[in-house]
Amino acid sequence: ELMRLVALAIGYAFGLILSGYLFGKKKDVDIRKQGSGNIGTTNTMRILGIKVGALTLVCDCLKCVAAVVVVWLLFRTSYPEHIVLLELYGALGAILGHDFPFFMKFKGGKGIACSFGMIIALFPQCLPLCVLIFVLAVAITRYVSLGSILAALGLMVQIWIFGAKGWLAFATSDLLEAQILVSFACILAIVLHRGNIKRLLAGNENKFSFKSKRD
Ligand code: G3P
Repeated sequence: ELMRLVALAIGYAFGLILSGYLFGKKKDVDIRKQGSGNIGTTNTMRILGIKVGALTLVCDCLKCVAAVVVVWLLFRTSYPEHIVLLELYGALGAILGHDFPFFMKFKGGKGIACSFGMIIALFPQCLPLCVLIFVLAVAITRYVSLGSILAALGLMVQIWIFGAKGWLAFATSDLLEAQILVSFACILAIVLHRGNIKRLLAGNENKFSFKSKRD
């Protein structure tokens, strides 16, 4: 039990590196006060342009991968049979740190780029379908939020339907817990998009464009 918490805490620390916010700060822009007010990739791209946005995606994705790697390095010899589950706790911690940074009164991002990192590091078998859903939804509707929500749903469905097959590295006894944890991450991502969902339903959600909208 304790090791799960340690892995979660390590991940949380990585999650606190809010790259979009930091890139904004470097340019004297508080991205929390512009666009959607979100500190993630989409809003950073919206406000600071494609390059900084892409960099945010890479950094937020990599911090989750880094959390997984550090947990692996720390526990691979002492807990070899449960190592993948602990890595998942690390990834979840990174998502939680990104979504609920204590120094911002727990108001952070929505964890999509971090979840992308989690999928790359731990569930690559789910990657193609998630990316396909996301890209198609955004290409057709120009709503990044809708792409994120549908990709989160797509991950959850895959985790329950096909997940176990590709999870050879998970101990059989850890599989259900892993499925529940991933589902929690997906549901959390969707709940954090509640403002976007309201805007989508009202027809006034921001559409993606390559032009930056900095005030
Ligand atoms: O990754 C977050 C994205 O799905 C929506 O971002 O800034 O439009 O709320 P935003």
